[in-house]
Amino acid sequence: MNVLWLFAHPDSHSLGGALRDEGLATLRALGHDVRESDLYAMHWNPVVDEIAAVPDDVRAEQAKLTWADAVVFQFPLWWYGTPAMLKGWFDRVFVQGYAYDVRDEDGRTLRYGEGALAGKRALVVVTTGSPAPALGPRGVNGPLPDLLFGLQHGTLFYTGMSVLPPFAVYDADRMTPCAFASAASALRSRLRDLATASPLPFRPQNGGDYGRDHVLRPEVAPGRSGLDVHLG
Ligand SMILES: Cc1cc2nc3c(=O)[nH]c(=O)nc-3n(C[C@H](O)[C@H](O)[C@H](O)COP(=O)(O)O)c2cc1C
Repeated sequence: MNVLWLFAHPDSHSLGGALRDEGLATLRALGHDVRESDLYAMHWNPVVDEIAAVPDDVRAEQAKLTWADAVVFQFPLWWYGTPAMLKGWFDRVFVQGYAYDVRDEDGRTLRYGEGALAGKRALVVVTTGSPAPALGPRGVNGPLPDLLFGLQHGTLFYTGMSVLPPFAVYDADRMTPCAFASAASALRSRLRDLATASPLPFRPQNGGDYGRDHVLRPEVAPGRSGLDVHLG
């Protein structure tokens, strides 16, 4: 497979950098073709200057994305979300006509499971300062899947990508060599399954679960609300 690895961390010598190195080496050893966008090293401009323009740096990223069968998005969790650098990559690269507002031959807008990036796999690799229970169902941060909902559902699935369960390294500010070895081994194992792992079962917009108002029909997950109702 062609794999694009997006790395959004200012320090290549960080834990994140070590995991990235491990990930790239693993993918290459598995025989994948790998390209990288190391956003800080590239001095990526995350700010949208002009909505209508598609500058060369954006076109280059779109070309990498078009080439990729799978994309890994790696970042440290910052303030419950992605570093602005990565958010700004989406703002500038996922533009209208390329990533969204794409229509089929009947004029139907394709999104949430269909769209320009359908057929591509996406894997989020995230490190967090908080330990796992604090990002669990009753943890003070809120559940990690909820924090990642905007990225995984609102951005990646929205544009048609198949989103794999995220790979998280928790308690990342207190890594011991032993904990790192175990995180690296778990990452290698997830990357071995990159082409075959089942994606998160987000409900497609046009699969019948939602009405024309884009609200779940009453008979689907009756009485339930919250973000995980969008998983079938
Ligand atoms: C600006 C900033 C915001 C952070 N916000 C969070 C957060 O919301 N939740 C969390 O669990 N950790 C948070 N952290 C901790 C980082 O996620 C953690 O330091 C990082 O994942 C460790 O990996 P690294 O050594 O590769 O940077 C934050 C760290 C910084 C610098």
